[in-house]
Amino acid sequence: MNQMKQSKIFDTHAKIFEKRRNKKTVDTKWRHKLLATASGDILELSAGTGTNFPIYQNVTSLTAVDFSLEMVRYAREAAKEMTFPCEVLLENVEKLDFEENRFHTVVSTLSMCSYPQPGFVLEQMVKWCKPGGQVLLFEHGVSSKPIIANLQKKLDPFLSERIGCHIDRDMLEILQHSSLHVTKIESHFFGMFHLVFATV
Ligand SMILES: C[S@@+](CC[C@H](N)C(=O)[O-])C[C@H]1O[C@@H](n2cnc3c(N)ncnc32)[C@H](O)[C@@H]1O
Repeated sequence: MNQMKQSKIFDTHAKIFEKRRNKKTVDTKWRHKLLATASGDILELSAGTGTNFPIYQNVTSLTAVDFSLEMVRYAREAAKEMTFPCEVLLENVEKLDFEENRFHTVVSTLSMCSYPQPGFVLEQMVKWCKPGGQVLLFEHGVSSKPIIANLQKKLDPFLSERIGCHIDRDMLEILQHSSLHVTKIESHFFGMFHLVFATV
């Protein structure tokens, strides 16, 4: 999908994400678990409205990126409430370039489903993370239950054009092909959601 069109789709989701931002939802405990060890200079890709910002505990600086103008507007408001330096960039993650080894922790939550080249973005995360640093992911994808997986595969061509993300990506396989050192994966909800703890 054209990325301009995709970012406009996400613009229309921004209000819903913003409403959920300070509420406890089904994924709140997963986000807390994932981000408990995030520390130092943190890069968060495709940060949406900044749902994760208040969860970080041990931050030197936070650099957040998203390509949806509406998401970024809300995230910049959320950033003002933080006690640590927090910059929100309006950028396409696939076109970004930071210097190598810049961040102690690189985070992505619920965004690998949207990139045309998720494997490329994982390698960029590896590149931008310091050696020994952490890459933390909370992502959704195809279920480990065949009956659900088949349904996801049938619906994906129709849904992805409308919601801007794929529901049938095999995140575990994509990770296997990456150069990340995965230390732990926790899968939830019929194997559709994954918490991934990795190092570089
Ligand atoms: C499902 S939302 C998740 C938002 C947030 N990470 C969270 O966990 O609540 C996906 C986000 O990815 C952003 N996104 C998707 N593709 C992107 C890209 N290529 N560059 C930058 N942002 C992107 C969208 O604008 C949207 O804010």
